Amino acid sequence: MQWTSLNTVREKYLSFFESKGHLRLPSYPLIPQNDKSLLLINSGMAPMKKFFTGEVEPPRRRVTTCQKCIRTPDFERVGHTARHGTFFEMLGNFSFGDYFKEQAIPWAWEFLTEVMEIPSDLLWPSVYENDDEAYNIWKDKIGVPEKHIVRLGKEDNFWEHGPGPCGPCTEIYFDRGEKYGCGRPDCKPGCDCDRYMEIWNNVFSQFNNDGKGNYTELVQKNIDTGMGLERLACVMQGVDNMFEVDTIRKILDRVCEISGKTYGNDKDNDISIRVITDHTRSAMFMIADGVLPSNEGRGYVLRRIIRRACRHGKLLGIGRAFMTDTVAVAIGESCGAYPELSEERDYVLTVLAIVE
Ligand code: SER
Repeated sequence: MQWTSLNTVREKYLSFFESKGHLRLPSYPLIPQNDKSLLLINSGMAPMKKFFTGEVEPPRRRVTTCQKCIRTPDFERVGHTARHGTFFEMLGNFSFGDYFKEQAIPWAWEFLTEVMEIPSDLLWPSVYENDDEAYNIWKDKIGVPEKHIVRLGKEDNFWEHGPGPCGPCTEIYFDRGEKYGCGRPDCKPGCDCDRYMEIWNNVFSQFNNDGKGNYTELVQKNIDTGMGLERLACVMQGVDNMFEVDTIRKILDRVCEISGKTYGNDKDNDISIRVITDHTRSAMFMIADGVLPSNEGRGYVLRRIIRRACRHGKLLGIGRAFMTDTVAVAIGESCGAYPELSEERDYVLTVLAIVE
């Protein structure tokens, strides 16, 4: 397994699924289109809900994307840990009533073990507790030893995020090694220590949740895969967390340069450095997609993000506006995959120069 940059991991994933008959679509904007249930897109499947339910015909029954996502429930924790962030990229391969478990599982395995060359003994699949079909595919078709397959309950292996398509899932965990573990003899995926990191989520989208807890079976069976790009990049780069991943580390290094601080020397400074690094990415992508700071809705989310970044800039002793500077680095790292960043570069920097 070779060190691989985040931008290369993304490209390898998308071209792998193109080679399996998927149509590559660009990321949808962060602003949901015709969906009032969400402020911001928070997963790869969110912009495609109507393809899953069958209400809208997809451009092809197999689609692959790398989706920009924002999740803010842990907003205040960002920076305090190295694992929380507001912005992330989610890779996905989707089947709208086309292939199902028998195909999705072997492709996930092929990508991780043959394209990424991750040793198979470091990978642990989990399945929904009574999903014998998925369990048997892992055991018989892929040949994973039974001691490496874990059955988990609804909390871990049934995916839903508010109203919309949902279903049981099978996940793939990467074993980061004993040094991250709790040392308990029964430690395995599902344990709350840091040893096993979920890198792949394959949802068997079979139900629709009406948002009030009522589930109806969907006419078509679908596949909704979510793979956190930053997490897989951590694995491929042998680093602990996303702030050490190449493209994100460049932004972090710029924050250090501007502030004259060294990352890893002081706990409080590190918190501020991580806050600015993460918030630089989310503010950049939100503004490029047309969000403006305001007092309500997604505009308020953006306003809080910018304010918090600025507050941590002050804590680091930066005596000037700096977000145009950190965002310029972030644009350079991501514009190859997101052409809107080059197109909207001047606009994004102008908005930041005004509001910061
Ligand atoms: N929807 C699932 C997730 O977000 C898989 O894409 O994890």
